[in-house]
Amino acid sequence: MNNLVQQTVATVKDGVDEWTEIDRRLMRRALVLAAKGVGQVSPGPLVGCVIAGADGEVFGEGFYVYEQLKHAETYALEQAGARAKGATAYVSLEPHAHHGRTPPCTDALIKAGVSRVIAPSEDPNPKVSGQGFVHLRSTGVKVSVGLLARDAEKLNEKYLHFMRTQRPFVHLKLATSLDGKIATRTGDSRWITGAESRQRAHELRYEYDAILIGAGTALVDDPLLTDRSGKLRRRALVRVVLDETLKISSESNLVRTANEAPVLVFTGDAAATAITDLESRGVEVVRDAANGRDFHLIFEELGRRSIQSVLVEGGASVAGKLLETGLVNKVSFFIAPLIIGGGAAPTAVGGNGAERLVDALELQDVEITQRGRDLEVTGYLRSRNER
Ligand SMILES: NC(=O)c1ccc[n+]([C@@H]2O[C@H](COP(=O)([O-])OP(=O)(O)OC[C@H]3O[C@@H](n4cnc5c(N)ncnc54)[C@H](OP(=O)(O)O)[C@@H]3O)[C@@H](O)[C@H]2O)c1
Repeated sequence: MNNLVQQTVATVKDGVDEWTEIDRRLMRRALVLAAKGVGQVSPGPLVGCVIAGADGEVFGEGFYVYEQLKHAETYALEQAGARAKGATAYVSLEPHAHHGRTPPCTDALIKAGVSRVIAPSEDPNPKVSGQGFVHLRSTGVKVSVGLLARDAEKLNEKYLHFMRTQRPFVHLKLATSLDGKIATRTGDSRWITGAESRQRAHELRYEYDAILIGAGTALVDDPLLTDRSGKLRRRALVRVVLDETLKISSESNLVRTANEAPVLVFTGDAAATAITDLESRGVEVVRDAANGRDFHLIFEELGRRSIQSVLVEGGASVAGKLLETGLVNKVSFFIAPLIIGGGAAPTAVGGNGAERLVDALELQDVEITQRGRDLEVTGYLRSRNER
């Protein structure tokens, strides 16, 4: 084990017995502050910071927004002023010790005389990872790591997954009837779920860097796939279509609006004229050796474009194939109290499916929320070796 790793492992144990109710309350506050940056931080992490005295009195607060070029710690330290000396900093992610777009936050904390830093976890970004804590400790600042780690992990799940894998965090979202259908036998699919579920779907779009569908959905539904949450977002939502044979119409809503919001089409051996036509309308066409069908390659390519998170909105073929790859992190089903029926009406998930019940995919950390007359069931895919 090298020195850095040894010191990092030690930090996880450090603070376990030291946290008080005040610590928990203020770290919760730092997480609430961090969440204010949703939609405004990608490709950075959500970060919140509280500077407080030993009795829990708050001297300063801040959260990170990419465009403002100031980190959460800087805002909180500015507010705290001289009172930061001897105070505790509650930071929702390890402060960075390197020169990036901003000077190191560890320098600012040390210079202000903060005596203790509490954080839930390390930042897996290789430029930061553990070095922030090492720097703080090297100057005598007490560092405790691990407080509310699960909550902090969930809050930054997209960024943390991307930093660990260089692939986007993948969230599969589907709207179904009670009997698991995503359309009628004639292809009528608008709308299975009610207004509240659809509003929630736009809020989900707001949280993601890209949205992905298959060519089938592009043809049948002719969707716009824009973020209509009404909230200001930092990066445009990239609309991704998997279309091996370039079936997408140049008159489709996606292509018509390609100059307003980016459209990326993954294709295979499609005709050069069809590619040129789409490109002339502002669509970016990615041709790859796997004919735009291999999810590992597709997500690697999106990762290279610094797309940290993808919301997959179907349909059944894409959902089925994608679930088989094991690349899905999170799943949301919006279930409407409708019974569509009919053997020919498509169900939500295609592909081969499970042979036996023990092979069925299982969700964990499931949350069930009423959305008007519908239910939203959201959870994380349990990996096979956790079962
Ligand atoms: N209720 C919902 O939540 C929801 C959401 C979306 C869609 N829908 C409904 O679903 C229906 C469309 O379903 P669908 O299965 O035809 O649509 P789809 O999954 O969106 O598209 C399937 C097509 O995507 C292309 N594709 C490219 N890479 C693929 C890969 N790795 N795996 C699978 N397909 C890949 C294939 O076309 P190429 O072979 O030409 O590349 C395939 O035919 C529509 O009726 C729509 O309304 C419902």
